Amino acid sequence: MKIVGFIVLVSTLISSCEENTDEGGMGSTADENLFSQVTQSDPFTSYTLFPNVDSIGMGTLNGSTAHRPLVRVSMNATAFNTLQNDSLPLGSSFPNGSVVFKEIISGGQTTLYAVMRKDSANAFSGNGWLWAEYYLDGRVAISVEGRGNECITCHSLEEGLQNDLVRTFERQN
Ligand code: HEC
Repeated sequence: MKIVGFIVLVSTLISSCEENTDEGGMGSTADENLFSQVTQSDPFTSYTLFPNVDSIGMGTLNGSTAHRPLVRVSMNATAFNTLQNDSLPLGSSFPNGSVVFKEIISGGQTTLYAVMRKDSANAFSGNGWLWAEYYLDGRVAISVEGRGNECITCHSLEEGLQNDLVRTFERQN
């Protein structure tokens, strides 16, 4: 009996550690902070749809396969106010606090959130942005702590670099 109790204790300890670090868990404090920013303090439900882009569509760009089948992209006021004539002015970049938010829609339902938030002083930023993916309940699919290592190469393709890594500009009509 004692051995069984010990095994239960050890496996409980191991799984409670995993919850804090593994993908699919609640994530780190940095993940929780970003999720609460985009769902509570500056919620994506108040964002503006990315201008001149089909509200819901399937990207056909070089790299669009990363987010399929359908996507809906919006941005917060800080990001939107940076645009001139629906474009990012040449040579400029998004200021800190900008959020570009993508919902991945499958079977008529949003299944995943992909987030970019400009926070260049943050220890987890990659090329100035925080990068993360979340399930709707806040569980982490891709942690902020990866500093965009799974994201930045593809976001630098095509017109990515001139658009501060925001690729949806390439989908504008
Ligand atoms: C293989 C290429 C590729 C990878 C990897 C990738 N993306 Fe994207 N992403 C795109 C493309 C292309 C778009 C433009 C819209 C579309 O076609 O889906 C996009 C759009 C976005 C948007 C909307 C803002 C924008 O740039 O237009 C967000 C937010 C986003 N991606 C987050 C992420 C995050 C976070 C990661 C890493 C976890 C990631 N992406 C990895 C290709 C990629």
